[in-house]
Amino acid sequence: MKKKNYINQTKDIPVAERRYLNQNYLKFKKNFLFLVPFLILILSFTGLSLFRNSKISSFVNTYIYTPNNIDQSILGHLPYKEISKEKLVLIEPNIEVHIDMSKPLLKMRDDAKKDGIYLVFLSGYRSINLQKDIFYSLKSIRNQIASERARVSAPPGYSEHSTGFAIDIGDAYKRETDFEVQFENTDAFRWLKKNAAKYHFKLSFNQNNKDVDYEPWHWRFEGSIEALKVFETSNRNLKNTIKVKNW
Ligand code: DAL
Ligand code: ZN
Repeated sequence: MKKKNYINQTKDIPVAERRYLNQNYLKFKKNFLFLVPFLILILSFTGLSLFRNSKISSFVNTYIYTPNNIDQSILGHLPYKEISKEKLVLIEPNIEVHIDMSKPLLKMRDDAKKDGIYLVFLSGYRSINLQKDIFYSLKSIRNQIASERARVSAPPGYSEHSTGFAIDIGDAYKRETDFEVQFENTDAFRWLKKNAAKYHFKLSFNQNNKDVDYEPWHWRFEGSIEALKVFETSNRNLKNTIKVKNW
């Protein structure tokens, strides 16, 4: 009702009302606008440093920067499916491997021989059932708790050997170093370190692995798409762990 009073009754046009703004208010507004970018900058830096030192930061590092199955791992081992029997080939008595890796593996052994190095294949494909026996019987015989055993042997369903893409290698002239860290002092290991990548083999457990002991004899094949898919999570986790360390 009151609003009607501000309207020109004749022409029905609203009449503008002039108000003078307080000069102090204008000055404050100008200064405030000038300070806003600086305030944003200071708050951002404070927030970032608080975040870096907080528990949220380590949560994000673990669950965002190192995603994909790291939480599916058991005692430092990732889960692996058992290879189907049709994809296995027997390369010598008691040694079966994935068909994709058989040729490069045999070629590697032949080429090593030409250099005077005699590689011995100690263990290839292992079924999940065999891995079960190895893990639980040795754990019991050696009176070890699961975490101790897992440093040297993967729990069933978590071994690269069940994929058919892993091979344990020894030196024919130094059989006393089979499955021992001393294998790294053999000519066979030196040769592998220098040449294995040519045949698409990679050491799975190096000295930097915190959950699983160093295994200079254990190599995995990454020379086919199937093999790369199988080890994608492992390789991604490794990459992301390095990224987190640098962050
Ligand atoms: N020795 C390795 C960790 C395995 O059992 O697969
Ligand atoms: Zn092995």
